Amino acid sequence: MKIIRKIAILGLASLASLTQFQVLADDDNGNKAYEIDETTFSCINDMSRVRGFFVDNLDKSALDKTLSVANKGTGEYPAGSVVQLVPTEVMVKHPKGTSPATNDWEFFELAVSPQGSKFTARGFTEVKNRFGGNCLDCHKKAKPEFDLICETGHGCDPIPITKEMIAVTQKTDPRCGVMPTLNDKEKVILKQLKAAFGG
Ligand code: HEC
Repeated sequence: MKIIRKIAILGLASLASLTQFQVLADDDNGNKAYEIDETTFSCINDMSRVRGFFVDNLDKSALDKTLSVANKGTGEYPAGSVVQLVPTEVMVKHPKGTSPATNDWEFFELAVSPQGSKFTARGFTEVKNRFGGNCLDCHKKAKPEFDLICETGHGCDPIPITKEMIAVTQKTDPRCGVMPTLNDKEKVILKQLKAAFGG
């Protein structure tokens, strides 16, 4: 049964890029895909840090299951899991069978500001990051036991930002409210990031 119908709405005046609205129905077991909108995601630092990345679960009562897989570093993430490395990119795990091609992960690319998150792209197999790289193409190179989580040494191609840059983007997520105090080195990195990506 085809459970995902995509309606792509083009040409919205204020949006330069394609906006996809997903209509997600029940899977064969009656599990509903999560309804996710722009208010679903907020300050990355409110999530739980595991090594270099952050996790959460849309169902708070299942957060311990997500944390257990994340801390172990292998295994399949439970439905509802939310994973982020930088404020602008998110992976969310839908119920089993929602999207076999992506191990049921949905990919999101966000624009973030003090006002919150805006979707610049979302979907399963076609979402690209700001460098033009397809999320799935890269993340599916992770060995099967890692459930599309790349970290380091899992088999994915590297991303063109350093660990220090990642740390600064996490620290300065504009959705978190008060801007943190940065040391001189972090200030230089923030300038480099702004020069490279704008904003
Ligand atoms: C060129 C390959 C590549 C592309 C394209 C890519 N990623 Fe990643 N991604 C990585 C690598 C490598 C890491 C781990 C980086 C690290 O931990 O230093 C990562 C980390 C992540 C993480 C943290 C969990 C993990 O896998 O380590 C999330 C969430 C994520 N990416 C989402 C996305 C989304 C969403 C997109 C598309 C909008 C995307 N990525 C595109 C390579 C890629």
